[in-house]
Amino acid sequence: MSKSWSTSDVDLHLVVTPDTGRRVGLEYALREAIRAGRLAAGSRLPSTRTLAVELGLSRGTVTAAYDQLIAEGHLTARQGSGTRVAASVTTRAAPSMSGVPKPVAAPRYNLRAGSPDVSRFPTSAWLRAARKAIGEAPADAFGYGDPRGRIELRTALADYLGRTRGVLADPDRIIITSGVQQGLALLAKVLNASGASTIAMEDPYIPSFRDTVRAAGPAVTSLPVDDDGARVDLLTTGEFHGIGAAIVTPSHQFPIGSTLNPARRQCLADWARAGHLVIEDDYDGEFRYDRQPVGAIQGIAPDHVVYLGTASKTLGPGLRLAWMVLPPHLVAPVAEAKQLTDNHSETLGQLTLAELITSHAYDRHIRSSRLRYRRRRDLLASRLKPRAGRPLTGYALSGIAAGLHALIRLEPAGLTEHEVLTRAADYSLALDGLSGMWLSENSETAPQGIVVGFGAPSESAYPAALDALVRTLS
Ligand SMILES: Cc1ncc(COP(=O)(O)O)c(C=O)c1O
Repeated sequence: MSKSWSTSDVDLHLVVTPDTGRRVGLEYALREAIRAGRLAAGSRLPSTRTLAVELGLSRGTVTAAYDQLIAEGHLTARQGSGTRVAASVTTRAAPSMSGVPKPVAAPRYNLRAGSPDVSRFPTSAWLRAARKAIGEAPADAFGYGDPRGRIELRTALADYLGRTRGVLADPDRIIITSGVQQGLALLAKVLNASGASTIAMEDPYIPSFRDTVRAAGPAVTSLPVDDDGARVDLLTTGEFHGIGAAIVTPSHQFPIGSTLNPARRQCLADWARAGHLVIEDDYDGEFRYDRQPVGAIQGIAPDHVVYLGTASKTLGPGLRLAWMVLPPHLVAPVAEAKQLTDNHSETLGQLTLAELITSHAYDRHIRSSRLRYRRRRDLLASRLKPRAGRPLTGYALSGIAAGLHALIRLEPAGLTEHEVLTRAADYSLALDGLSGMWLSENSETAPQGIVVGFGAPSESAYPAALDALVRTLS
């Protein structure tokens, strides 16, 4: 006889073997659940009436089993609070998992690139928006919907992206995706199906995004990057002949941190208008510190640029909410690819984000985050300045005008990347090396560096993380 409880405080699968008698079988099953830790100390058991019904036993049998376990000290019964697992019970040690590697202790300090400070997720504003958006949602919001995503969010984004990023967006041309990463996967699939066998990607870039594109079919070729952004001038040379699409981060190159200079922006827009496709990953465009944000390239060639944005930096990557604004000819094929992949993105988060944006709570959150990250950036720059008596030499900080990461370039005379990462591990500090971000065939000879993400730590952990960084580099 086996049952799961779902009507009491605990939900537990119990197997009562009747061979030894029903009462003894139930006692055994409960004892085992307590000893194995499946029924934790303090958990409330179902009433004898409920359990009797669920297990198909008489109420007297259940009462007798409870009484026996109370007498043994496994359970306690108090008027008004029902029968509970005793606070004093001891559980068996978890069975050993020989062969399964032990989890490695997480480093104490995290300055890896990629995450914002998720401890500052605007929980109250999100809950307020969710209550309103979900409370007022039409019934069809809870059914299957448009593969492009909810119209409420697409409309809110069309306005927001136009206002803040200069993107020319029509809600009909927006598709909501589960992260920029999914957007890239869908695009690569569609482009591959239409004959694009190779896509140019900035080098260095996020290795997993390169793998995502390759997994969808196309090969990847390296588009070099320097302090003025991607070398888009090369796209018109013979080397890139036949390449129809390029994935770029013009506002803030990841991971170098440079911004595409005005001449190259123009050159990229011209290349796009000449019949190519630019895929613009605007992952942290909201965070610009030294001047007005650089507008999106999409705004100057909207029919030839795919714009990708995300809530991963502004709110948190756990939301898996991102958007793409597509040229008209790509809307139908990408929507179809999205539908074939997962039908459409989850709806309740979309409705909530739409409400957050239209109520301007999203803008307020971004403004306060921008201030906070700017202070962090300033602190990073000041802590890494060489000072009398502290020989911080052999590296240079760059890419700090925007975003949530900076690059420490390692000079040949100083520590190698491997040495820095090894020392960082000694201080329990997690950092990303630049080497792993180059296309593999370039990684041996490419410059070394450390990508410092100053977004991830909580406010209270940040100064100590910087101390660890300074010690690592000293
Ligand atoms: C260059 C770049 N693009 C995009 C993203 C966001 O990806 P997603 O929206 O899939 O979380 C990140 C996040 O770290 C990033 O560094």
